[in-house]
Amino acid sequence: MRTLIVGASGHLGGEVARLAAAAGGEIHGTSTTGADGWSRLDITDREAVHALVSRVRPQLVVNTAYRADSWAICADGAAYVALAAAGAGARLVHVSTDAVHGGRPEPYPDDAAPTPVYRYGAAKAAGETAVAAIDPAAAVVRTSLIIGDERSKQVRLALDLTTGRARGALFTDEYRCPIDVSDLAAAILELAAIGYPGLINVAGPQPVSRAELGRLVAARHGLDPAAVPVCTTAEAGLGARPGEILLDSSRAAGLLKTPLRGVGEALGVA
Ligand SMILES: NC(=O)c1ccc[n+]([C@@H]2O[C@H](COP(=O)([O-])OP(=O)(O)OC[C@H]3O[C@@H](n4cnc5c(N)ncnc54)[C@H](OP(=O)(O)O)[C@@H]3O)[C@@H](O)[C@H]2O)c1
Repeated sequence: MRTLIVGASGHLGGEVARLAAAAGGEIHGTSTTGADGWSRLDITDREAVHALVSRVRPQLVVNTAYRADSWAICADGAAYVALAAAGAGARLVHVSTDAVHGGRPEPYPDDAAPTPVYRYGAAKAAGETAVAAIDPAAAVVRTSLIIGDERSKQVRLALDLTTGRARGALFTDEYRCPIDVSDLAAAILELAAIGYPGLINVAGPQPVSRAELGRLVAARHGLDPAAVPVCTTAEAGLGARPGEILLDSSRAAGLLKTPLRGVGEALGVA
């Protein structure tokens, strides 16, 4: 399978590239700098996206590219990638986020309509809408905090706060469903292989607070979990934020061979 991974220099994109290559695929990837031998691409450049996809002629496009502060990347760029993939007749898996939701105690089903609170979640929701309109057969994968080794920004944040390399605290009242990067990457490739169309939640089955995640990361790295600085969002002086964003990933768990492990098992501290 000739696969183009948009954002192959990133944490998730790199793992998708690694697994797809291990499965014998022909892998093309992008980064914004051309680093690591990937093709240089800025997905906010519509013509550049079209030109690269026309040159590579992928059978599968996986779009993992994002920057949390960029509407142009998360929304416009997502649309340009979907247009180019559709033009090339390629299957598309687009990666989205739990941040499209505004938070509530009940888990969100796969097709729950977005209720974003943050600009980032709004931009990703706009990206989802564009992708689905351009290519209803595309898989749109909503995921949660991506963990793994120190390449994970969630893991790095926990370690930096615990060791004093960064200032701040992890919230005790924001719950998410972290997922291991390898589980997520494998699930993405499996969804592509079965041609899954539409929205699907792919997150871990074990909701934890950001603080608890930090403690588990600390334990995994031989640090004292009690040394993780934690506080509530109110103590941090922040306004209303989504407290619980729990993705119900039972459809993915039932559909896929890839196990979606809980955070404790994934970090080896179950
Ligand atoms: N990280 C999480 O905990 C989390 C949680 C929920 C959902 N997600 C979603 O998961 C996906 C992957 O996240 P990640 O943590 O693996 O991301 P990441 O490590 O930050 O990688 C982002 C990738 O996007 C590329 N990129 C940035 N700006 C671009 C542009 N203008 N044009 C093309 N590519 C660009 C980066 O290229 P350079 O390396 O050249 O900058 C990099 O390859 C994203 O869609 C994100 O919304 C992530």
